[in-house]
Amino acid sequence: MKIISVVGARPNFMKIAPFIRAVEAYNKANAAGIEHLLVHTGQHYDDKMSRSFFKALDIPDADINLDVGSGSHAQQVGQTMMAFEKVVQAQKPDWVVVVGDVNATLACSVTAKKEWVKCCHIEAGLRSGDMTMPEEVNRLVTDRLSDLLLTPDLLSSENLRKEGVAEEKITFVGNIMIDTLEAQRPRAKNLSIQEIIQKNSIPEQSAPSPIITPHSRSTAPHAPLYALMTLHRPSNVDHPDVFTGIFNFLATEVAKDMSLFWPLHPRARQKMEEFGLWQRALACPGLVLLEPLGYHDMLRLNMDARIMLTDSGGLQEESTVLGTPCLTLRWNTERPVTLREHGGASVLVGNNVDRIREEYRRTLSSERRPVRPELWDGKTAGRCLQEILNH
Ligand code: UD1
Repeated sequence: MKIISVVGARPNFMKIAPFIRAVEAYNKANAAGIEHLLVHTGQHYDDKMSRSFFKALDIPDADINLDVGSGSHAQQVGQTMMAFEKVVQAQKPDWVVVVGDVNATLACSVTAKKEWVKCCHIEAGLRSGDMTMPEEVNRLVTDRLSDLLLTPDLLSSENLRKEGVAEEKITFVGNIMIDTLEAQRPRAKNLSIQEIIQKNSIPEQSAPSPIITPHSRSTAPHAPLYALMTLHRPSNVDHPDVFTGIFNFLATEVAKDMSLFWPLHPRARQKMEEFGLWQRALACPGLVLLEPLGYHDMLRLNMDARIMLTDSGGLQEESTVLGTPCLTLRWNTERPVTLREHGGASVLVGNNVDRIREEYRRTLSSERRPVRPELWDGKTAGRCLQEILNH
């Protein structure tokens, strides 16, 4: 059997790493059997957004890089399809495996089906219901086309059934990204938070501030205490009023309560510069601007953060498993199992500053409470591969 797996952007790498391990283990146990090729579309190309994850997660170099790079959605998807079509025609795989919901996921699933190749989607069935999110469009198209839909939770399986997907195409396998979290947790645990901050601070910033302990320390008396922040969605960072409002709250309130560590996505950094926030950010005491972090550094910071503020789907999930109270700066989520009402650690706060403030204050007094949704057990990749072999 020949399988091509596809990655394109940062959140794909931690999902494909365990799948590759599962293929290697199968080949070892069965004296080869599966020919596997890894294709990187090149959507993310900076060392810190791509290469560093390959190294940290021991992902073999991609067999083929499509070098698509940045561009509008149509450019990214179109160029990926044109380049991937040639790969599929030359390689004639039995299966194309796509993960997540980035543009590479959409482009390669469409190309596979147009070449009559079976497609498996890992992390199928997530739905935010928000068609303004490019990822929702990617998820809907990919799931509509895929032959095998492997879901991270039962709500996602149910979403697919409601859309009329045939039962034999759907299997609940658990969350493959948590395989990586569980495999890498011991290595991350040994890292020093101070060293992570020193190593990754943005050089233009005056000396990294010492870690500030909160004035209102209602629980958890152990130090260090800090907030952790990421922001990259167009809905939060592309509009000057929205981004400035969130920034003002962070700088004048959160960063006064405690150190606020903020690894910057390239898109957020560009927008800060464009909207005149960059110099203020550099000069703000308590706000610690960081380069994009490697996998283990981010996991380490998440393990002990007092609170997470994020618009990332992956961090909502990781915070749930680690128990970090999480404010999700979105109005909806395709990952409801991470929400407090479903037993998770996260609460939706959108981008309205009054709402963010209210939940921030409330969340400061909540305890860490790790949660393990069903089948988020670190063994999902093996189930994914078994399903492909069974089909
Ligand atoms: C993409 C995914 C999003 C995911 C996110 C994680 C889509 C539609 N979006 O969004 O789902 O949550 O990745 O990061 O696929 N850039 C660099 N270096 C890089 C890559 C990008 O500087 O290595 C800059 C470029 O200016 C680029 C911008 O970041 O235009 C946005 O990158 P892009 O890949 O288009 O989307 P993301 O916002 O990263």
